[in-house]
Amino acid sequence: VNETTAAAPAPAAGDRDADPSVVWSIVHGFTAYWTTVAALRLGVFDALAERPAAVADLAVEAEPDRLGVLLDALVGLGLVHRDADGSYSLGVEADAFLVSGRPRSMRDLLLWSPGPYDCWPALDDAVRHGEPASPVDADPSGSFYLRLVRATFPTQHAVASRVADALANGTDGPRSVLELGAGAAPWAIALLEAFPDARATVNDLPAVLPAAGEQADAHGVAGRVELRAGDYLAVSLEPRAYDVVVLAHVLRAEGDDRARELVGRAAHALAPGGRVVVADYFLDDDRRGPLNALLLGVTMVACTRRGRTFTLARCREWLRDAGLEVAEVTEPLPFQRVLIARAVPAPYERGAA
Ligand SMILES: C[S@@+](CC[C@H](N)C(=O)[O-])C[C@H]1O[C@@H](n2cnc3c(N)ncnc32)[C@H](O)[C@@H]1O
Repeated sequence: VNETTAAAPAPAAGDRDADPSVVWSIVHGFTAYWTTVAALRLGVFDALAERPAAVADLAVEAEPDRLGVLLDALVGLGLVHRDADGSYSLGVEADAFLVSGRPRSMRDLLLWSPGPYDCWPALDDAVRHGEPASPVDADPSGSFYLRLVRATFPTQHAVASRVADALANGTDGPRSVLELGAGAAPWAIALLEAFPDARATVNDLPAVLPAAGEQADAHGVAGRVELRAGDYLAVSLEPRAYDVVVLAHVLRAEGDDRARELVGRAAHALAPGGRVVVADYFLDDDRRGPLNALLLGVTMVACTRRGRTFTLARCREWLRDAGLEVAEVTEPLPFQRVLIARAVPAPYERGAA
């Protein structure tokens, strides 16, 4: 567990002198975020990817004096280096994640993962009255989700590719995959790439599903994909039909009752011997971490009507109610936990195991 994922226990009042840097580091969470967003919008990372440069030579439209301040802060944040000759160059994370067109780009994720920006100054109202300023789950145009799922695709596709082997389940691999609330369908696409004989049914709301069609085309698997538009709690699903059913980053938007119902629908669609995959930012069972999931819980409160992050124990409960049990929990990339569940074996099968 590294420093950024652990939620350090707060020393009790009176244990030691109070440390003002704790408050400053919270203030600078805000400052660091907007510094990085501004650098991205100004094209700083793309320009430095072309070639290291001093402020005056950087191909960015800006006042050099102000740009220098921004660049020095990026050095402080560990995203950029200042070399001995005064020129700036990209650090390893900025190079991998913040330059346009990189396969693991997190540029759009940086912009959209906090949700609609106007939700944040109104967070206290959302806590007080239960209604966010612009709840993303009440937007029939799906415009926010459309941007978000294009942003999350590279990371989720990488996660899914790393989990594919575990889903072969001692066979040639799944033949039929169902991805519910698929967004741009990173899981279905990665599994179709890993298993050439498989076909996938990909579900999302009508306004968002075109993103899945675009990515399936781009990855050359569109011929094996059926796009099925509709509410995942209402859309028609064949019973006992799918070897793998994926619920990636959907349950935390739903709240307890609807998440339980959705897991039930996934289980109902599962073929004998099949697996349900849940990818999410799970809280530890004591809700003391990881910090990433604790803070994403607040993002859900700020930006959705029902959403919360949830513990692994709560998810096990939903699965148990649906007749499933957890077979494996992995973390293929930092922050990305994936749970693979299967039908609870009948008593005679348990005996044989
Ligand atoms: C956080 S995104 C996750 C997308 C994708 N599973 C991934 O991991 O990249 C949540 C997705 O759930 C979809 N969604 C939300 N409510 C839905 C509903 N009632 N029925 C179907 N999809 C829904 C959203 O449109 C969005 O694509």
